Amino acid sequence: MIALEKAMHPLRGDVFVPGDKSISHRSIMFGALAKGTTEITGFLNSADCLSTIDCFRKLGIHIDHAMRPTNGVPTITVHGKGLGGLKAPSETLYTGNSGTTTRLMSGILVAQPFDSNITGDMSIEKRPMNRIINPLSQMGADISSLMDNGCAPLVIKGGKRLRGITYRNPIASAQVKSAIVLAGLYADGDTVVYEPALSRNHTETMLTMFGADIHNELARDGSAAAILHPGMPLHGIKINVPGDISSAAYFMAAALMVPESELLIRNVGINQTRTGIITVLKQMGADITLLNETNDSEPRADILVKYSELNGNENGIFEIGGKDIPTMIDELPVVAIVAATGNFDTIIKDAAELKAKESDRIATVVDNLKAMGCDIEATDDGMIIHGGKPLHGADIHSHNDHRLAMTFAVASLAATGTTRILDEGCVGISYPSFFKDFQAIVN
Ligand code: S3P
Repeated sequence: MIALEKAMHPLRGDVFVPGDKSISHRSIMFGALAKGTTEITGFLNSADCLSTIDCFRKLGIHIDHAMRPTNGVPTITVHGKGLGGLKAPSETLYTGNSGTTTRLMSGILVAQPFDSNITGDMSIEKRPMNRIINPLSQMGADISSLMDNGCAPLVIKGGKRLRGITYRNPIASAQVKSAIVLAGLYADGDTVVYEPALSRNHTETMLTMFGADIHNELARDGSAAAILHPGMPLHGIKINVPGDISSAAYFMAAALMVPESELLIRNVGINQTRTGIITVLKQMGADITLLNETNDSEPRADILVKYSELNGNENGIFEIGGKDIPTMIDELPVVAIVAATGNFDTIIKDAAELKAKESDRIATVVDNLKAMGCDIEATDDGMIIHGGKPLHGADIHSHNDHRLAMTFAVASLAATGTTRILDEGCVGISYPSFFKDFQAIVN
């Protein structure tokens, strides 16, 4: 449990957030499938990414995780063995709390000559896996849910010949898209994944850097496709992981909620498939400026956020939905906190996917915000927030969901009295030093 109090003074200074989780996972996975060494700087040293390292070590990949200095920078080296270089694991692969590890690795494992079993923690064993089981089965894979409940543990029988498919995913999901594409690397023929809106495209951009022939196509209606022509060998590369915009989001929100605050969040990834939070907060009236934009492995910038009075539209209502949702899916909980402190109503819609995350984030955000005095209601695909009611401290149940714990730490800044975050240790899933960094700007 950690007890937090209302902010007593403006938040000022520079913040460095840790590396991007999606890119860190992929750098290990793709590095393992490439021939030669992949050197990673800026890697996110968190529980989820360590699960990925652990699994690939069990698949026979040597990963030098000593964080040893190369030119003074901590580097992780993956000694990749090529697409055919993985070896059979001698035990079940344990993915902890990580949906990305579970789903992406399944896409790789169905194409191997050996059998494997995958499972994770209690949260992983409740998350939907039919979304990958179905398309991978269409490709000829033998993958099933051990308990026949559409969830992990997953049982994979290897030695299957896969064929490329054209798959129309009804939801925009980078994890599903990536699992299919990774299986597609081993398949006969092209693999095409359509989605209703472009989900984060790190798999496409990074596989291209590793030598694969893959690209995105966008249609006029905003729908998107990832198109893979298999057959190209992957080769090791150097990757510099930018700071995670999903972690930066907590500091962006904090600066916008505490009067006279000004925070500069350094070296944050600004891939356009991830910047929905900036777009939406700006539409709410936030003063956010991107500085020092560069492109090194991925586009990145320093994000300057100044306290701003936010507003809805002329009817006093602000709507978040449609194609913005996949570009800010993990940031919606903290955006709900910002919305709760504004003097307007916010409708979050088209976001039913929130229910399929580490916790049911519609229920867990709504329940905890209600406990703090917010006027908020859950809907089938999001929530309606009647902003402006004063918030007060409460006991926050994180449900072991890292994003919930960080989201409600931010809420404490605007709440009278004490906010107690229960099970706050779960921040180690994506941001182990979160409370240290948070206290450094608050105190
Ligand atoms: C991720 C994709 C998203 C996101 C998750 C990371 C990824 O999940 O919520 O935190 O790295 O591909 P979905 O693909 O299920 O939307």
